[in-house]
Amino acid sequence: MALTLDEAGLRTIGARLAPLLRAGDVIALSGDLGAGKTTLARAILEGLGHRGEVPSPTFTLVQTYADLDPPVAHADLYRLSSAAEAEPLALDDWLLDGALILEWPERLGDTIWPDRLWLRLEGAGGPDRRLTWDAPAAWEGRWPFA
Ligand SMILES: Nc1ncnc2c1ncn2[C@@H]1O[C@H](COP(=O)(O)OP(=O)(O)OP(=O)(O)O)[C@@H](O)[C@H]1O
Ligand SMILES: [Mg+2]
Repeated sequence: MALTLDEAGLRTIGARLAPLLRAGDVIALSGDLGAGKTTLARAILEGLGHRGEVPSPTFTLVQTYADLDPPVAHADLYRLSSAAEAEPLALDDWLLDGALILEWPERLGDTIWPDRLWLRLEGAGGPDRRLTWDAPAAWEGRWPFA
């Protein structure tokens, strides 16, 4: 299954995902540079009630939003060259009480959490994006797009 979305449509997806998010969840956002990963992350954070900026974590690697329910860490692993480099980020610890939105999840290779919701965005450069997904057992009954 796939959805074709303009930017407003992608933001609507984020708004619908936000209330479904629980502590321990990982949303992996895959796609080329400019595919819309940060745009979708921003819509999820705003859907959880965040007001204000959502800077791209390309350089900080992780931005945390501790006052949300659940608390969210937004990470961008683009600059990592191996999965081992993610260890100091202690993302597993964060997942004890919070959720994780991850750009460039491919950087984690096989070490990524098997229960992650994997969303893929394609079509960078044009007005529309193709969204495809892999919704694992942890999202059964929650992922609203069949
Ligand atoms: N349908 C669409 N969905 C998402 N973004 C769109 C769409 N159409 C145009 N855009 C534009 O594409 C850009 C997407 O940028 P964004 O920072 O979200 O990408 P990214 O996937 O996070 O890239 P990076 O890998 O560099 O972090 C934005 O400037 C946005 O306005
Ligand atoms: Mg980004």
